[in-house]
Amino acid sequence: MMMTQQALWQHVNRVLVAKCISELQYEECLVPEGGADCWTLNLASGARYRFFAWQSLWGQLRLNAESLMRNGKPVDSAAQFFIDAQGELGMDDIVLANLLEECAQTLQGDLQSWWLRQSVSARQMAQMDVDVMQPYLDGHPKAVLNKGRLGWGADELARYAPEYNQPLRLRWVAVARPHCVVGLEQDSDLDGVIKSAMSAAEYQSLRSRVDCLNGEWILLPVHPWQWQHKIRIHFQAWIARGELVDLGEAGCRYLPLQSIRTLANLDFPQAPNVKLPLTILNTSCYRGIPGHYIAVGARLSAWLDERCRTDPLLYDRGTLVLREPVGITCAHPDYRQVQGAPYRYQEMLGVIWRDSVQKNLHGDERAMLMAGFLQQDNQGDAVVKHVIAESGLPPRQWLRKLFDVVVVPLYHLMCQYGVGLVAHGQNLTLITENGVPKRLAIKDLQGDLRLVDQPFAELQLLPQDVRATLTRLPPEYLIHDLQTGHFVTVLRYLSALLQEQNLLSETAFYATLALSIAEYQRAYPQLHERFRLFDLLTPNIKKVCINRVRFIEGYADRAQRPLPILGTDISNPLRSAVRQEQQEIA
Ligand SMILES: Nc1ncnc2c1ncn2[C@@H]1O[C@H](COP(=O)(O)OP(=O)(O)O)[C@@H](O)[C@H]1O
Ligand SMILES: [Mg+2]
Repeated sequence: MMMTQQALWQHVNRVLVAKCISELQYEECLVPEGGADCWTLNLASGARYRFFAWQSLWGQLRLNAESLMRNGKPVDSAAQFFIDAQGELGMDDIVLANLLEECAQTLQGDLQSWWLRQSVSARQMAQMDVDVMQPYLDGHPKAVLNKGRLGWGADELARYAPEYNQPLRLRWVAVARPHCVVGLEQDSDLDGVIKSAMSAAEYQSLRSRVDCLNGEWILLPVHPWQWQHKIRIHFQAWIARGELVDLGEAGCRYLPLQSIRTLANLDFPQAPNVKLPLTILNTSCYRGIPGHYIAVGARLSAWLDERCRTDPLLYDRGTLVLREPVGITCAHPDYRQVQGAPYRYQEMLGVIWRDSVQKNLHGDERAMLMAGFLQQDNQGDAVVKHVIAESGLPPRQWLRKLFDVVVVPLYHLMCQYGVGLVAHGQNLTLITENGVPKRLAIKDLQGDLRLVDQPFAELQLLPQDVRATLTRLPPEYLIHDLQTGHFVTVLRYLSALLQEQNLLSETAFYATLALSIAEYQRAYPQLHERFRLFDLLTPNIKKVCINRVRFIEGYADRAQRPLPILGTDISNPLRSAVRQEQQEIA
């Protein structure tokens, strides 16, 4: 399918407006009217949007983007949509103008994504290595403006944004050790991660430059953009005093992954990934590295890894922790003294080294970011369809295997250990063998892992300082890491996609999920009390609205990351699916 530049521009705008109406209707900002498949959205501004759509089990409208009309003409501007809906979205003009900038940046990314995907089919994407596939992914499914990267211009996007598929080289600095907070699993890891990122000769050369300096030094990689725009300016005092030494660019080629700030080593895919602070606003917040968890991060990941190796269920299902053996942060000498300073100033310099999933693959195993299963190619063909076909399993059996290795281990971690992990599609990686779901890899433990606020005996093995550092939540909140983080943020899209691709009905999808959970619960009667604490079959689920936060909070600086807003409770699709299937069988 070739398109003119104008036709392509209209296409990406229309697709974005379709996503906006779908997500903002779900978040209850917009109330389209209609039924069957023909819908109308009348806005207070007088603009009228019409489209074809169907309503998913979550009550969300799934639009046919090509059918979208505004006042009788085909939709061609996402910016115009936001201007039209300003009243409903409750934005003042300051917020709206900022949002239009984020919208323009997102469209730029969407255009590039379309170009990149022109050269591949869903079938080809389904076969790609886990890191290589990431540039082809569409970004956060819930965030309507999911490629904001506020602070980056066209050249910087082309060099560093994942959809441009360009490797980069890291910059290296040595920082005087007293300035660093270091979290380690073992001392040798500190050198090991550096060696993994460059040739032996480059390592020797860097080392010899550091060894002739006085005192103890920590070697840190820095993202080239962060170096240019933040470090060499904001940390001038350390540079002037010789406490931060620039060692220049060196080492392997790294590919930006979906999170932009986590990069994979292209030359040695088994070497650790590196997560670096980038002081740009993307989706909900500035993407720095908070210092809060650094000291405990490595020991937390070691503890979780130990659980996965020794707990019979987690061992049996092969659940894998992508450990974070080294974490380092350096607080800025001035901003650290300003307690209420915006968080972006406190998180400029640091690194987290993380196991690569590739290191852990055996035989015919292949890994894919969970978000990959939601991806379609430019023709609308779905990646998941090809993975299911490869497995040779009927879709329902394939899904059952998926739930058994993804949802059950995550739920077990919560019930047995009181651990919740924000289980969205960018934090989970599925390992398949010949297309069959085999096991789950979990990552992003610093900040995205929380503990129950109750004194579970199982948590006693976790060192006291680690426990004290992590967020503790009551069970009814912790369960959202699964219900909101996974069911709403991943499964909501997967079930609708499978239905649209005529692979499986949504009812069958959630009935299968309920069966998988029920079978697990039957096998673990000793956890009966915990299942009541973490009840996945409650009639209603709280609705978390991530887009509305932006409309209300705007873009002004804040001391803390913004918190999401709650909408009206959702009726739990697991319950309704089970009931409906029972009726159909009866
Ligand atoms: N499918 C997705 N779900 C959630 N976040 C996503 C998705 N795709 C891309 N992202 C982006 O990933 C980032 C969050 O990941 P982050 O915590 O920074 O890195 P990591 O998981 O590597 O530690 C956000 O900027 C978010 O927009
Ligand atoms: Mg993440």
